[in-house]
Amino acid sequence: KGGKSMLFQTSKEHEDLRKEIRAFAETEIKPIAFELDQNNEFPTEAIKKFGEMGFMGLPFPKKYGGMGKDILSYAIAVEELSRIDGGTGVILSAHVSLGSWPIFAYGTEEQKQKYLIPLANGSKIGAFGLTEENAGSDAGETETTAELDGDYYILNGTKIFITNAIVADTYVVFAVTTPGIGTKGISAFIVEKGWEGFTFGDHYDKLGIRSSSTAELNFNNVKVPKENLLGKEGQGFRIAMATLDGGRIGIAAQALGIAQGAYENAVQYSKERVQFGKPVGFNQAISFKISDMLTKLTTARFLVYSAAELKENDKPYGMEAAMAKQYASDIALEVVNDALQIYGGSGYIKGIEVERAYRDAKITTIYEGTNEIQRVVIASHILGRQPK
Ligand code: CAA
Repeated sequence: KGGKSMLFQTSKEHEDLRKEIRAFAETEIKPIAFELDQNNEFPTEAIKKFGEMGFMGLPFPKKYGGMGKDILSYAIAVEELSRIDGGTGVILSAHVSLGSWPIFAYGTEEQKQKYLIPLANGSKIGAFGLTEENAGSDAGETETTAELDGDYYILNGTKIFITNAIVADTYVVFAVTTPGIGTKGISAFIVEKGWEGFTFGDHYDKLGIRSSSTAELNFNNVKVPKENLLGKEGQGFRIAMATLDGGRIGIAAQALGIAQGAYENAVQYSKERVQFGKPVGFNQAISFKISDMLTKLTTARFLVYSAAELKENDKPYGMEAAMAKQYASDIALEVVNDALQIYGGSGYIKGIEVERAYRDAKITTIYEGTNEIQRVVIASHILGRQPK
């Protein structure tokens, strides 16, 4: 039996895709995952290969270079990469949900031809520049400016904590075009690497997800052609919020995958490790942990896959995506903690997968909206927005 839960009925097509991504993760990522983590190194070759297989464009239509699969397929892909390496999971999630999706959803046909196709066919990598020093949870406090001057917007400012920074080619960046009017003065732009005045800070030296690249984006009088405005002037904040609604499904899937990997390792270990003359898994202190871990994972999977299906079917999904992200990441921390506890001292040593999962899981309660912000989002769906 092995505790396989069949509660959420995925299709054969979804499970075939899971097998394919799992095989990729196990052959291409697993053997190098420890080294990537140790060296803070991006899996350049593996991601190139993943892109050539079509997976970097999983949920986008074939006519835009994608695979034409659904959002659930994409969530499964992020989950399966994260089961082996949380850092690799977020590379896909940030590329698809944050770097590519806003261009798909809000781009003109010309923008899709020019930017979405290479992103979806895996020849380019995407990123998303929203967060700033004074605009983290309060994303509306964006200070980066974009001033119209003839045929160009002149972009100035700094974005921090940007996933896929440095390795990306295309960036969706948010900046103030009309100061003094709050969120309605923010606009979105497509910015290319290599434009004069666009530079990067150093890679952050992070606690976990060290195979993903995270750095600052610096804009010093960067000339952004007028046609690279994404959506309309003043629509940027809404674009950011709508993008994050979808992105949260990706992070929820990442948390689920990290926890799933740790759970499987812990189950295996509990069968092999013998103390007091029997495998440790036969102690209730351990077996109850294991049963709780699977119950939590199964509940989280329900939320994540259901949010993905809602998005796929054009139903409202913002609240469900926030619930999925908040719940999956909260339980991911509990599951990796229990997994490491089951390993005991052996799990505390570098090179052991649960040690990496323990560190990788933490970020999922923080980025793409802290879990406190997820609760703000969920509550605003229940009670309405806070009076200002
Ligand atoms: N979709 C569309 N529009 C939305 C929206 C949504 N989900 N949520 C809000 N809006 C609109 C509102 O309707 C409102 O428009 P109107 O004034 O025209 O009605 C406008 O946006 C402003 O809304 P609020 O007044 O609710 O905005 P707020 O300033 O109070 O902020 C918030 C709301 C939910 C706290 C928001 O700031 C937020 O989500 N913060 C978290 C930011 C975040 O998630 N950052 C993650 C960075 S990316 C990242 O982490 C990536 C990575 O590393 C992988």
